[in-house]
Amino acid sequence: MDAVERARQDYARGSLDVDDVAADPLRQLERWIADAVAEDVGEPNAMTLATVDADGRPDARVVLLRRVTDTSLVWFTDRRSTKGAQLAATPHAALVFHWQPLERQVRLRGPVVALDDAASDAYFASRPRGSQLSAWASHQSQPVASREAYERQVEAIEARFDGVEDVPRPPDWGGYALTPVEVELWQGRRSRRHDRLRFRVDGAGGWTVERLQP
Ligand SMILES: Cc1cc2nc3c(=O)[nH]c(=O)nc-3n(C[C@H](O)[C@H](O)[C@H](O)COP(=O)(O)O)c2cc1C
Repeated sequence: MDAVERARQDYARGSLDVDDVAADPLRQLERWIADAVAEDVGEPNAMTLATVDADGRPDARVVLLRRVTDTSLVWFTDRRSTKGAQLAATPHAALVFHWQPLERQVRLRGPVVALDDAASDAYFASRPRGSQLSAWASHQSQPVASREAYERQVEAIEARFDGVEDVPRPPDWGGYALTPVEVELWQGRRSRRHDRLRFRVDGAGGWTVERLQP
């Protein structure tokens, strides 16, 4: 682990000032995702989703952002999964993006709602057939005896939908939308003197922004 202790990078790609960013941090998030796409960052829409369990203990995993609306960020999953159960009990979450080559991080926090059936159906219909069948074949986050046992589940689903042109959405598979009430934009700077701007919703539906110490 010596390499981990020694790993040290100075950040010099950019800077961040209130005057440079959109007044709505979701619009700025879209700009930064576009920058990550232009930079060829792998999976620029990958984000860490943090939830809490029934004891208030945090949990986290990576999911893919699929849509940014006027007010929310949307991802899709099996609602029977661990994260689905956690969100049902505590419908609040945090999201984190990190685009390493751009030396940028975005953190968001807010309440989460399940998308309605029509929106989940529309996205499910756009997925490749293989992914659609995989959604049917897996009860996400449940144990399975072996890789072979899982592959037999996949084969059974392939047989079930053989000849069916449009695979329907599994009833428990769908989207969630997080509406941020707090967003932080972070840009790495030299000697750990980073730029941080924190946006919080104000009472009037707008955002207030403050600079935070690094
Ligand atoms: C890059 C990446 C993208 C992922 N995207 C998703 C996704 O969009 N939806 C999803 O359910 N799981 C996704 N996963 C898998 C999750 O990280 C996780 O293993 C799974 O959702 C089960 O989490 P849970 O047991 O906490 O519910 C992704 C994993 C990685 C590494």
